[in-house]
Amino acid sequence: ELRGVVALDGPSGTGKSSAARRLAATLGARYLDTGAMYRAVTLAVLRAGVDLADTGVVADVASAALVVQGTDPDRSTTHLDGADVGAEIRGPEVTLAVSPVSAVPAVRELLVAEQRRIIAQALDEAGGIVVEGRDIGTAVVPDAPLKVYLTADAEARAQRRAKQDSASGRESTLDATLADVQRRDAYDSSRAVSPLRAAEDAVVLDTTSLDLPGTLAALLDLVDAHG
Ligand code: C5P
Repeated sequence: ELRGVVALDGPSGTGKSSAARRLAATLGARYLDTGAMYRAVTLAVLRAGVDLADTGVVADVASAALVVQGTDPDRSTTHLDGADVGAEIRGPEVTLAVSPVSAVPAVRELLVAEQRRIIAQALDEAGGIVVEGRDIGTAVVPDAPLKVYLTADAEARAQRRAKQDSASGRESTLDATLADVQRRDAYDSSRAVSPLRAAEDAVVLDTTSLDLPGTLAALLDLVDAHG
């Protein structure tokens, strides 16, 4: 059983989401997908049809959007203004726009506050939560007792993403997926507010040659060692 927060950060395609969900389910803990929250706000911005470069308007749309993120590891749900947007937020339009929207400081302020509220409630109710994102160990929960930063070679990450895409019926090529992964990494790592990076006290786990059971086993070992 998990007490407290496990912070899981890293770029996309490291197997982070699947591993985080399985880790939480195995430990009887809650699970928070913070990327889904940035994606839902991005969907609201796209629907509003505003200029992504107009950060003031983007922030206004974000603060008017009602994003509700569930914490059940077996059924992670995302609602925007009352409607289930779980599938739509994984589409190419949102994936293309999510990094610039996430780089707007006012958007991060809103979502970090909401994430902290959800985490506090989950700790109250369940005692433990696995939180995945880009800035969990550095900004959202800097005092988390266990922080893990997942990495993997860009090619391995592109291959994982391409597999996920075809499993969900989305067309993509490996080249395009690799380009997308690298573009998003570069954007997320170079933004001014809470850029993607490992916290100084994070354990770095390279998943290039690990499958999901292997990643899960490594994470369970870390939880054991830090519990
Ligand atoms: O995890 P996922 O790939 O769904 O995240 C989508 C995007 O949301 C990331 O590329 C990043 O721009 C943003 N994000 C963030 N901070 C987080 C989680 C996600 O900026 N904690």
